[in-house]
Amino acid sequence: MAQQKATNITWHEAIVTVEDRERLLNQKGCVIWFTGLSGSGKSTLANAVEQLLHQQNHHTYVLDGDNVRHGLNKNLGFSPEDREENIRRIGEVAKLFADAGTIVMTAFISPYRTDRDQARELIAEGRFVEVFVDCPLDVCEERDTKGLYKKARAGEIKEFTGISAPYESPLDPEVTVNTAELSLEESAQAVIASLVKTGLVPADN
Ligand code: ADX
Repeated sequence: MAQQKATNITWHEAIVTVEDRERLLNQKGCVIWFTGLSGSGKSTLANAVEQLLHQQNHHTYVLDGDNVRHGLNKNLGFSPEDREENIRRIGEVAKLFADAGTIVMTAFISPYRTDRDQARELIAEGRFVEVFVDCPLDVCEERDTKGLYKKARAGEIKEFTGISAPYESPLDPEVTVNTAELSLEESAQAVIASLVKTGLVPADN
């Protein structure tokens, strides 16, 4: 749990509200949280979903693990504590994006259930969609798009998710897509269908 260090701070209410911004954008700000092993297809899927939403005139943004770790979270590694802090910050950033009225997609392994649940807690009811990018470890390892599994097996990378660090699958995600069985198009459509079903985005007509 992050320690509250700052004292003498006062919350300042904004004049323009989230409802005002959502009216302007004609959409509901929300968080689509992709979780899964490295190489499961989180970033690819998040970007495909973003493209579909963008084509439907939605205002969107993708926060991607590898990218965010180049900047905002460059001081964090892969110990359980650092992953927790990584996800805590992303949860807070995603909350800001949703408050800005944006449909924000996060693509982080986010291996710990508690950390994902804490991110969910920050977001209004019904505005957090957990997408389990379910791809068997052997398929991710076979793909090995970044060559990291090979290094992890050789012991060159410590605490590698699925090999030498845990991944806790979601127990009750809003959406599960098996990227080993579905095409990218099918996977993206499954996510969109869930957003339409819950009324977060209108059906494309
Ligand atoms: S998380 O566990 O804290 O959510 P995050 O999604 O930000 O991880 O970053 C994962 C990416 O970092 C992987 O896709 C991979 O490219 C890279 N990476 C480097 N070292 C590790 C490691 N030890 N475990 C998992 N991924 C790693």
